[in-house]
Amino acid sequence: MKIAIINGPNLNLLGKRETDIYGNMPFEKFLETLRQKYPAVEISYFQSNVEGELVNEIQRVGFDCDGIILNPAAYTHTSVAIGDAVAAIKAPVVEVHISNVHAREEFRKLSHVSGKSAGSIFGLGLKGYELALEWLITQ
Ligand code: DQA
Repeated sequence: MKIAIINGPNLNLLGKRETDIYGNMPFEKFLETLRQKYPAVEISYFQSNVEGELVNEIQRVGFDCDGIILNPAAYTHTSVAIGDAVAAIKAPVVEVHISNVHAREEFRKLSHVSGKSAGSIFGLGLKGYELALEWLITQ
């Protein structure tokens, strides 16, 4: 089973960035533990700060893998192109946000991705990625 994790802008700074909101764990470290816990799942990882690169990666893996865990970060709230890419592909997408976007600024309540995704998880920290993986495994 092949699952792709795709992270958007500034998520390369996890562990250093606004740690009160996003925690102290660098994503690569978390990914290591996830891969150890699910050895039967081939987990690819892609992060970019560039909108078009995220669209390219969604298209690249979207007809090949069994599911995508997508945190488009700030592009969630602005990117029609990423929403369209999610709608265009075959693989089911679970949208994940580390923080509770509905408990923060008003602009974070809009997602161009939620309506095109199988489901969304927000506010559960990095655990949200694992819960998304658990769900995708059962599909
Ligand atoms: C985020 C929430 C977004 O609003 C924000 O721009 C991010 C991270 C999250 O994981 O909580 O960069 O997607």
